[in-house]
Amino acid sequence: MRQTAENLRAQGNTIAFVPTMGYLHEGHLSLMRKGRELADILVASIFVNPAQFAPGEDYEAYPRDPERDAALAEQTGVDILFTSQKNDLYPEGYETYITQTHLPGHLCGQSRPTHFTGVMTIVAKLFHIADPNYAIFGQKDYQQLAIIRKMTRDLDFNIEIVGGPIVRESDGLAMSSRNKYLSPSQRQSALQLYRSLQEVQKLVDSGETKAAVLIETAGNIIAAAPETDIDYIAVCDPDTLADKKIIDRPALMALAVRVGQTRLIDNTILYPQVDNAG
Ligand code: PAF
Repeated sequence: MRQTAENLRAQGNTIAFVPTMGYLHEGHLSLMRKGRELADILVASIFVNPAQFAPGEDYEAYPRDPERDAALAEQTGVDILFTSQKNDLYPEGYETYITQTHLPGHLCGQSRPTHFTGVMTIVAKLFHIADPNYAIFGQKDYQQLAIIRKMTRDLDFNIEIVGGPIVRESDGLAMSSRNKYLSPSQRQSALQLYRSLQEVQKLVDSGETKAAVLIETAGNIIAAAPETDIDYIAVCDPDTLADKKIIDRPALMALAVRVGQTRLIDNTILYPQVDNAG
C-alpha cells in the first residue's frame, strides 16, 4: 500500500482515504462518495483494530463480511481497498501508542479510557501507509473526529480531515455496524436515542437553555424504553467537549446508551434561539 501510494503521489495524483472497520453500511458509503469527489484516487481500509477494544468488549464478535464489503466498496468507486491482519499492523513486540491530553477524557473516554489511544494509533499508522491528501470520518463518532483533527494538527500530518454527516435509517436510527446485534424489540428501544435528541432540540427551540433540563428530558425518554442503560448524556462545547451548563451558543449533545448488550452512540448540535431582544 505504501509503495502504491508513493507511486500514485509521484505521478501527481491526489488521494482520499476512508478508514473503516468493515461491515460497511450507507454511512461508510457516504464517506466514500465524498472521498470520490475530493481526489483522483480513493483508498478505503478495512481493519478491525484490536487496540481500540478493551478486554471484554466486542473485538472478537465485531461483525465481519469481507466479500460483501469488497463488492460494496467497488460499486462505490473505491480504487484501492486496503485490508490487513492484526499481525501486519501490530507485529510481535509492537509497543508504540499515541495519547492526547484533553479530548479523550470526555464523553466516551470516561467509560472507555483506552479506546482513543487505540484509535489514534491505528489512524496515524494508516495515514503513514496510505499517505492521503484527505481523510474522511463520520460525525456520528463526533469525539473521534475531534480527536483525529487535533492529532493531525499536533503531529503535523499534511492531511485535510473531512467530516461526513450522520446517516440514519428511515426511522431515524443512526447507522452503525453494531445495529446488527439488536433484536427487533431492542431496535425499537434504540429509536429513542434519536427521538430524545429531537425532543431536546424542540425544547431548545422553545427557549430552554439549561443543560440539566435537556439532559433530564433525554434521559427520561431513553430510560422509559425497555433494555436501555444510559452510559452518558452530555451537553458540551463542540470544540473542547467540556460540559456546558447553559446553552448560549451552539452546543453538542452527545449520548451513549447500552441497548441490551449493544453500546450505541448518537449526537446532534443544538442551536439556541437567536436572541433578538437587543
Ligand atoms: O470509526 C471507525 O470505524 C474506527 O474507529 C477507525 C477510524 C476506522 C479506526 O479503527
